Amino acid sequence: MELTPVGVLGTGRYVPDKVLTNQDLERMVDTNDEWIRTRTGMSERRIAAPEQAASDLSLPAAEQALKNAGIRAEDLDLIIVATITPDMSFPSTACLLQEKLGAKKSAAYDLSAACTGFIYGLANAANFIAVGTYKYALIVGVEVLSKITDYTDRNTCVLFGDGAGAVVIGAVPEGRGFKSFDLGADGSGGELLKLQGGGSRCPSSAVSVEQKLHYLYMAGSEVFKFAVRIMGSSAEEALRKAGLGKEDIDLLIPHQANIRIIQAALNRLHLPEEKCIINLDRYGNVGAASIPMALAEAVETGRLKEGDTTVMVGFGAGLTWGASVLVL
Ligand code: UT7
Repeated sequence: MELTPVGVLGTGRYVPDKVLTNQDLERMVDTNDEWIRTRTGMSERRIAAPEQAASDLSLPAAEQALKNAGIRAEDLDLIIVATITPDMSFPSTACLLQEKLGAKKSAAYDLSAACTGFIYGLANAANFIAVGTYKYALIVGVEVLSKITDYTDRNTCVLFGDGAGAVVIGAVPEGRGFKSFDLGADGSGGELLKLQGGGSRCPSSAVSVEQKLHYLYMAGSEVFKFAVRIMGSSAEEALRKAGLGKEDIDLLIPHQANIRIIQAALNRLHLPEEKCIINLDRYGNVGAASIPMALAEAVETGRLKEGDTTVMVGFGAGLTWGASVLVL
């Protein structure tokens, strides 16, 4: 079967206005700006308003991606929303977004692969287009992590922020587009990063709230070790599948979890920091939104131009990981 080359037609991003700085956090828990900056690289993050949910953050990012792609919402065949902080368990945030956008003919579903969700979503949608099932797809990575963060727990509350990133993908000329995907999972690490409350194993109750099971739990240093190992190896695997080498990378777009994890990946790939987009200093870890937000910023600021080769790589709860080589 003849496969259509598929690539990015437009990007968009949105963050809420409220800024939470390291100095603000110093007043909330036993932490300090020096520790947060040296151990994570973060200085501030954005926090959604009480009335803002995932679909609200997704809408402006999606509209910007559609505008930049020159596509109307009505033209979309598919909407995938990658998130672990949906508006509600069901209906999907993708369906809520479809209604807000007026994307009447599109299929719509959410995808749960935590911080790797955007890469998983791209792979899903790109395959539909490559085989001719669909023409245009919107993939959104969005998180409202502030709503599942315990702001009395210094181990986690300094790390997370809120935001959305979106891309519209479709057919591109030969030579451009996605060159490979590397997706992986290791369910044996599922206990390391989780939110237990509100699911079918532990339905919401006064007891689940009392035990703080409605908040995200993370075994930080275990996840850190996994991340350091997997970011480099997944990026290398995606390059190998694309028939490219480290020297072909114009820009690395890594998941923004910790500056030390990103530096480890850069070392392994023998890349200087100039060949990497870093925005965790301004936005913290925005889960599934971190890669599409960084991609949109790279395009907007001209750091990634038509014809450039980028490797997007991420990891997250599950445990999951994923990488993709894209020629813009
Ligand atoms: O998106 C995917 C999910 N997230 C991640 O990928 C995060 C991966 N993990 C990490 O980024 C790091 O493990 C953290 C940033 C979470 C923690 O850094 P670390 O270097 O692994 O620190 P640690 O957990 O080993 O803690 C070192 C010390 C501890 O004190 P003691 O026991 O040595 O006295 C912690 O209690 O730092 C303490 N600590 C803090 N101190 C000040 C932990 N959090 C803080 C804090 N402020 N916010």
